[in-house]
Amino acid sequence: MSQRHLLGIEHLTRAELVEMMDLADSMLEISERPIKKVPTLRGKTVINYFAEPSTRTRTSFEIAGKRLSADVINVSEATSSSKKGETLLDTAKNLDAMAPDVIVVRHSASGAARFVAQHVRAAVVNAGDGQHEHPTQALLDCATIRKHKGRIDGLAVSIIGDVAHSRVARSDIHALTKLGATVTVAGPRALMPVGIEAMGVTVLERTEAALEGADVVMVLRLQHERMAGGFITSTRDYSKSFGVNPRNIELAKPDAIVMHPGPINRGVEMEPEVADGRRSVILEQVTYGVAVRMAVLYLFAGGSPAA
Ligand code: CP
Repeated sequence: MSQRHLLGIEHLTRAELVEMMDLADSMLEISERPIKKVPTLRGKTVINYFAEPSTRTRTSFEIAGKRLSADVINVSEATSSSKKGETLLDTAKNLDAMAPDVIVVRHSASGAARFVAQHVRAAVVNAGDGQHEHPTQALLDCATIRKHKGRIDGLAVSIIGDVAHSRVARSDIHALTKLGATVTVAGPRALMPVGIEAMGVTVLERTEAALEGADVVMVLRLQHERMAGGFITSTRDYSKSFGVNPRNIELAKPDAIVMHPGPINRGVEMEPEVADGRRSVILEQVTYGVAVRMAVLYLFAGGSPAA
């Protein structure tokens, strides 16, 4: 790897993305063993510092570290001294003073992971920073697509929803375009970042147009926690105009897969029949999440090869 920290997908090469996906594929098998543990990261310490809520990312980083035999410590903002006024810089320096090998950071501020990386000796892994990037989500999304389709190059991938506030969309677009997919984004104009075309995507305003002929449909939720005003009239209107449902999903290719990073707001961006339907690979994304995070911890903490 050319980078000491995993802060985003933007500055990684196609070869590095493939290396991480290949390593994740080899890690999948460890989670299927009766004893799901290898000594790869014995003696290494991983701190998960999560200053925003998380179900999938925090849990899978913890499981990933433990399956590789690392010592894993979880620190959440709700129970940390940031509640007493400690700054992110002081929190980062104090955690680093305990000599972890990796600090995994989730934070509401775009750039928080890079900021931490500039002040610590540990390797920093970005677990989602504001509207910026969520690199391990993109890696697990690409690994899931590759498993189902056998390739990413040449696929038509449509990302539908609140792109403006989505770090997942940004990381996915960087990864998918580097890996040769054709990416279309669709959603209300107010939820589309200005100038997103410069990222090499086609922008559409209608969900149906984006679904037509897609190999992969990736649906995003409305990220109300990052909306500072009236971006939509109501979730009901949004669902009617932009939601993915059992009727419009049939516009995608017959073998198209449906993805969602979670958490899903059922009945808003996606109907339950689609979330749980034959095309859905949503829970496989979660399974890949552990394997990808095992690969990332292995590469950034430095360990001996998996046994
Ligand atoms: N996809 C994702 O980041 O989910 P969590 O917020 O639950 O970690």
